[in-house]
Amino acid sequence: MKRIGVLTSGGDAPGMNAAIRAVARTAIYKGLDVIGFRRGYEGLLDGDVVPLTVSSVGGIIHRGGTILRTARCERFMKPEGVREGLQRLREYDIDALVVIGGDGSFRGAYELCKLGYPVVGIPGTIDNDMAGTDCTIGFDTACNTALQCIEKLRDTASSHERLFLVEVMGRNAGFLALEAAVAAGAEYVLVPERKFDLADLCKKLNYAHQRGKTHSLIIVAEGVMPVAELSAQLKDTGGYDARITVLGHIQRGGSPSSFDAVLASRLGGGAVEALLAGETGAMVGRTSGKIITHPLQYSWEESKGLDEDMMSLVEMLGI
Ligand code: F6P
Repeated sequence: MKRIGVLTSGGDAPGMNAAIRAVARTAIYKGLDVIGFRRGYEGLLDGDVVPLTVSSVGGIIHRGGTILRTARCERFMKPEGVREGLQRLREYDIDALVVIGGDGSFRGAYELCKLGYPVVGIPGTIDNDMAGTDCTIGFDTACNTALQCIEKLRDTASSHERLFLVEVMGRNAGFLALEAAVAAGAEYVLVPERKFDLADLCKKLNYAHQRGKTHSLIIVAEGVMPVAELSAQLKDTGGYDARITVLGHIQRGGSPSSFDAVLASRLGGGAVEALLAGETGAMVGRTSGKIITHPLQYSWEESKGLDEDMMSLVEMLGI
């Protein structure tokens, strides 16, 4: 193996730059050349390449976003697109590819592997919805960003004695919502993995009100329902006048936390080591402190599952 490629794909996540740096520097340290593709699989298909050197990946470990930029590439979701991508990799004499992204990006990588091309994936998404790693790159930072916002909302919620509904990202998963709810001491959390029970929520709010609680924070994962709809249901059923905040893309930005910068550095180094050890069609992850590999498809075929103890904690501590 002489030259490897690297790209970031799907939604950006804080720590992706630290992963790019770790991939490039580990590979160069081991005597390999490194080529970056801009805009994920789009750049692979368009031949949008940039050589990565020790100095070109300097000064990026702390930066949010991704210097390689990213995209969700529809062309690569079709077999012709994957074949064209393979052709491009051969044209550039690239012997293996590192894909940094979420499960959609891993599915593209898997298709490439099925054509016999060596690929290793690094899990990067704020959603944390991938099996094979305790945490994906960006999840910790997004939780901290959400927490900072929720703490600000608590100030105004308590001053005005109000009920706030805070929508957090996570696509179809509730990891971000649950983590933020526990960290912020929220009264209630709604996640897509659990059936929503309006009566139970109203009961909880009424009980809190009777105990003299003057404000409440409810964290809603975006995959449950639009918060505006939830607000309307609360108004109709319980007469509640909730304020709504949708945190949105702010959760994807900012410098990576120390946890994410370290995780990204370890997974970046681990991905190159895995390729050099002859692994392909694999993802690197961190489980119980150890860097391990699994087949790429493990990330979407296995269910990670929400931590039941954390769900119970919100229930017990939010009384
Ligand atoms: O997968 C990361 C994520 O931020 C999800 O939480 C969210 O549902 C989605 O991406 C938003 O995608 P886009 O940036 O394309 O609107």
